[in-house]
Amino acid sequence: MSRKKHDSTSPPNPSKIISKGKTSWPFTAFSVASLVPVVFAIILYQLDPFDPAPYPPDVFTRYVVPVPASNGRMLQGSESVGAGKLVGPEDVAYDPSSGVIYTGCADGWINRVTVNDSVSDSVVQKWVNTGGRPLGIAIGRNNEIIVADPEKGLLNVSAEGTVELLTDEAEGQKFKTTDAVDVAHNGIVYFSDASYKYRLKEFIWDILEGKPMVDFLATTLQPREQRRRCRKYHIQGEDKGRVEKFIDGLPGMPDNIRYDGEGHYWIALASGLTLPWDLAFRYPFVRKCIAIMEKYIGRPHMEKNGGALAVDLAGKPTAHYYDPGLSLVSSGIKIGDHLYCGNLVYPHIIRLNLKQYPAT
Ligand SMILES: *[C@@H]1O[C@H](CO)[C@@H](O)[C@H](O)[C@H]1NC(C)=O
Ligand SMILES: *[C@@H]1O[C@H](CO)[C@@H](O)[C@H](O)[C@H]1NC(C)=O
Repeated sequence: MSRKKHDSTSPPNPSKIISKGKTSWPFTAFSVASLVPVVFAIILYQLDPFDPAPYPPDVFTRYVVPVPASNGRMLQGSESVGAGKLVGPEDVAYDPSSGVIYTGCADGWINRVTVNDSVSDSVVQKWVNTGGRPLGIAIGRNNEIIVADPEKGLLNVSAEGTVELLTDEAEGQKFKTTDAVDVAHNGIVYFSDASYKYRLKEFIWDILEGKPMVDFLATTLQPREQRRRCRKYHIQGEDKGRVEKFIDGLPGMPDNIRYDGEGHYWIALASGLTLPWDLAFRYPFVRKCIAIMEKYIGRPHMEKNGGALAVDLAGKPTAHYYDPGLSLVSSGIKIGDHLYCGNLVYPHIIRLNLKQYPAT
């Protein structure tokens, strides 16, 4: 009788019938639906051949060297040099004779950027395109520009702009990520290959995999070091060839190191210590999860507090400039009163007046 009444008013609504019949059904359906991605993720995890190795315990030490002065809000007061005209200006090399910064960008261009008091007076000139991704840049003894390009190798760009390949292999092994470069007073070029397995676009895999692949071809200080430390390699004198501690417990992950000619090395820090990276270094399975996310949906943003650390000749930190909003800072040089920071992601060089915004 009640059914008949129901029929006469409106056609049965399937969803109504289900919700009347079994109250637990929608809940179960919800649980099953939510399990699908979990099961899918577990299967992906099991099938994925990526096999990260544990890092040695000193990688995930939480020790941070004390720094006497810092400016943890360096974006406040910082300026953008070459805004919108530079694509991830990674390294910055300054030629005082012309007042020009050379920087290599993600679009292959080596740009010449004039250094002026007012950033609006700075001019960006597209100078030479390597056809690759110029990273490390150093000025040679004949005013040539030596470029570490992970896609091309070690390049010599003459003052007239002619590009010549110096080398792209060592002992039969092709370089994959020719990364940092410097030229010694005697003209010897020191450079590093950050990974012989992964190319730059894949550099994250190197870090996630945790197997040592940095080639120390001849590099004074070791770049992109997961251990948050810098080593010193003697290129001359009694200790020639010896590697020793320079600084341990950096407040972040280091990239390029530049000497300012005034008694300080500037160590660029791609990111400060963050909980996600701490967990990733500690647990290979976390790195594998990140690797799978990177492959299918993109890597989560795990970096903050990037910046630069000034260190004296003895390896003692003197000042730390950083900001929660900064990541993938790859180089820092001091020119006059300003710190200029290259980076892998922003469309400009970051500049901070150290007199106006000092570390305290
Ligand atoms: C900017 O700096 C360059 C190199 O030092 C110089 O040649 C140029 O005249 C400067 N421009 C202005 C507007 O100050
Ligand atoms: C780079 O090329 C220039 C011009 O040919 C040359 O003078 C210079 O010595 C070269 N530098 C190196 C390091 O080979």
